[in-house]
This record gives sequence, structure tokens and C-alpha cells, in this order.
Amino acid sequence: MSAASPSRALARARAASASSTAPSSSTESPPASRRPRARPRRARAATLRAVTPRDAEIMTRVCELARAREGIAAPHPLSACAVTRGDGDVVVEATHAGQGSTRAEIACADEMRRRGATLNSSDRGTVYVNLEPAHGEVAGETRSVEALAATGATRAVVGMLHPLPGLRGRAVRALRERGIEVCVLEGEAEGFEGEAARACRETNEALLYRVATGLPFSVYKYAMTLDGKIATDTGHSSWVTGAEAREMVFRERKRADAVVVGGGTVRKDNPRLTCREETGFQPARVVLTRSLDLPEDAKLWNVRGVAPTIVCTTKGVKPEFQNALRAKGVEVVEFDELTPLAAAQYMFKRGFLRCFWECGGGLAAPAMKSGVFHEVLAFIAPKLVGGGALAPTPLGNLGIEAMHDALPLSGVRLEIYGRDILIRGYVPN
Ligand SMILES: NC(=O)c1ccc[n+]([C@@H]2O[C@H](COP(=O)([O-])OP(=O)(O)OC[C@H]3O[C@@H](n4cnc5c(N)ncnc54)[C@H](OP(=O)(O)O)[C@@H]3O)[C@@H](O)[C@H]2O)c1
Repeated sequence: MSAASPSRALARARAASASSTAPSSSTESPPASRRPRARPRRARAATLRAVTPRDAEIMTRVCELARAREGIAAPHPLSACAVTRGDGDVVVEATHAGQGSTRAEIACADEMRRRGATLNSSDRGTVYVNLEPAHGEVAGETRSVEALAATGATRAVVGMLHPLPGLRGRAVRALRERGIEVCVLEGEAEGFEGEAARACRETNEALLYRVATGLPFSVYKYAMTLDGKIATDTGHSSWVTGAEAREMVFRERKRADAVVVGGGTVRKDNPRLTCREETGFQPARVVLTRSLDLPEDAKLWNVRGVAPTIVCTTKGVKPEFQNALRAKGVEVVEFDELTPLAAAQYMFKRGFLRCFWECGGGLAAPAMKSGVFHEVLAFIAPKLVGGGALAPTPLGNLGIEAMHDALPLSGVRLEIYGRDILIRGYVPN
């Protein structure tokens, strides 16, 4: 997220957070009932170490580590951990790789134990986590906090509190009850602390949106000519942008749990929708088609060794074709009424955190209208194609009659890829 104003969903997530009982800023004391007994307030304040630029630097690194698992970690949040000595030297760092793998905090403690590198109080060590780990009754889980304490660090820097109300502030309290000094970056808006806090929020923005909206974080990406067309009047669109922009799109696909298109794009473009890497993670390819009027030999039906494909369609439509797709390993999901919102809710239930929509304007318009999209990535290529009303544009009719009712994006950023410009921003919702 850029330094500009955050979207309302994020603001809502944060407001919900702020209204919880947990402390929200850096070195606040825990509630009196939970404070370690008989610790004079002035003496405690004297021992608090303020957040330093080195803390911010390490937290930024922790965020980078966490983001390297984007697309893989879902439905878990992106989290990583680092442990330093008092001089700021990193002793160990680890990332939570995803479902079924060891949590980052536990991996750090295990590695330190293995190396005989566990800290003692004279080391004045610090543990860093970009996201408060799940802890306590709701998660039924105390291992992360125990692992953080087992590192021997006397201080913890937590990038942001857990967004789920039942988990929010629990691990921070538990650490403080174990005598560990805790600084929470959330709530910091300026300076190096604010930068690090923003990096932590951005790292798990999909989770924040998921909590705030009950939908996966959905990005609508399109590429258009300078005259606003996503294809020619014949529907041809390969390629609007240059190689640099396309490389960026492959990277964005890799960040997502699903890449989503409508039937129109399958019919016209016959896309593969992969990250163009032979090995490693590939997001699921999701097609929304009410009619199931799709080619029998589309590239998306080639799933084995490539990437999973999920077809969302209308209940009972073309049963023979459905069976043929299933026989190829394609998952077919039937809906009483297929809408972008119903499909997004389905993807939410599957645990998808981030969906990357690469459809045309036919599907994008109802998706935008029903509040499914959270961010727009618009590539603009410096070329003109004309085509009048026959050449498609990025959005069908939204029913907006006056310009002052146009949807204003927030947190807008400009990036350049070769000759193409990318404008990205958050949708108001
Ligand atoms: N430059 C770019 O960034 C870009 C990206 C994508 C596509 N394109 C171009 O855009 C053109 C295709 O546009 P398009 O609008 O047809 O593609 P689309 O948005 O990908 O597909 C539209 C289709 O989505 C399906 N759909 C499912 N639920 C729907 C609902 N509730 N409302 C509306 N549609 C629903 C329908 O498929 P069924 O008809 O199968 O039921 C509908 O025809 C092609 O020329 C393609 O090359 C360009």
C-alpha cells in the first residue's frame, strides 16, 4: 500500500482493530489486570527500548521473507521471524512456508537450540515478527509464544496485531506476561516506524481485506491502449503491452491463489494463465462461465503437471461437457446462479486470500458493481487502436451517469514497465 490514504476496507479493519481491547501502539502497558505484578511503572518505563532505525530495517527484511511465500502460504497469513542480539546482528531468521509446515517462530527457536545459540539476558536480544502470532483460547495454541520466549530474547518487535478479534493482542499480552518487552509498530504513521508498519500491513493486506470484507482480496488487472481499448474490434488482444509489463503480470500471478477470467476471454484468447515457470507454485486458474459454451480443446483444460483449473458454471448446464472436463482433471463447480460475488464467496470458503482477475469488461463490470474488486492494476500502452464501439473496453456498463459519481481510486501509484505505464489504486468499498 502506498503512503496515500488507505482504502476503506483497510480502514474498517483497522477501526475494528482499534476498538478491540488490545493495546495498539508501540510501548503501551498491558491492562492492569494482566500487568506483571509489583513492577513499578517508572522502573519499567526506564527499561523500555524505543524502536530504532535498525529495528525498522530488520522488520522490512522480515516482511520480504514473509512475502516470498505469497500464493503458497494461504490460507495462512504471510509471516516470518528474525532474532537478533542487542547489537542488531541477526542470529537466525525463518519463514512460515505454508500449510503443514513449521511456524516461523518455532523454526527460529529450533534452529537456535540446534546451533546452541540460544540467547541469555545479557545478550539483550530482540525477536521480530511482522504479524502477531495466533495464541490462546481461539487458536488453541501457545507454541509460537513459547518459541519466541525460548529464543532467550528479552524484547519483541511486532509489526501488526492479529486482525482476527479473537486473537488480537493475545500473543502480545502473553509475551509481556513472560517478562518480554514488546513494541508494536501498528499505529505508527510516520518516520521509519511508519514505513515498517506500512510494510507489515502491505504484506498481509489480503488477510486484512479477508477479515474486513469476507472475500478474498481481488485485484482487477487489464492492459489497454492509450485510447482505452483492451482488444481490437475483432477481439484480438495479444499483446497490448510489452515484455516488461508481461513479466510483471507473471510475478503478480505468482502472488495470487487464483487467476480468474470469464468465458469470453477463454473463447477469444485461449490463455494459459500460468506464471510461465516450469516448476514451483502455480495459482489455480478459475473460469466463470454461465453457458459453458467453451472450446473443447482450450489450453486451460491441460491441468496435469501444469496448474489446477476450476470452472464455475450454472447448475445442470451441458452435463456431458462437464463430465469430459472432470475426466481431464478440471474441477467443475455448479452454482444455482453464477455471479462474480458468488464465485468470490466460493473462493473465500476455499481459503483463497488473493485473486487476480484478468477477465474482460463483460465480467469485470458486474464484479466491480458487486464490490468484488479491491484493487485495480491498469496497464496503459502508448499505442492507438481505434475500433469504435466494437473494440472492448476494460469495464462494461456500471450505470454511472455523472462524472462526479465515478469511482475514485485511493493509494494511487504509477510504475513504468518498458514503454508501458501501470496505474494501480484501491477501489472504494
Ligand atoms: N487486454 C486485456 O487486459 C484483456 C483481458 C481479458 C480479455 N481481453 C479481451 O476482452 C475480450 C473478451 O471480453 P469479455 O467481456 O467477453 O470477457 P470476460 O469478461 O472474460 O468474459 C465474459 C463472460 O464471463 C462469463 N460470466 C460469468 N458470470 C457472469 C456474469 N454474472 N455476468 C457477466 N458475465 C459472466 C460469461 O461467460 P459465458 O458467456 O461463457 O457464460 C461472459 O460471457 C476479448 O477480446 C479479449 O481478448 C482483454
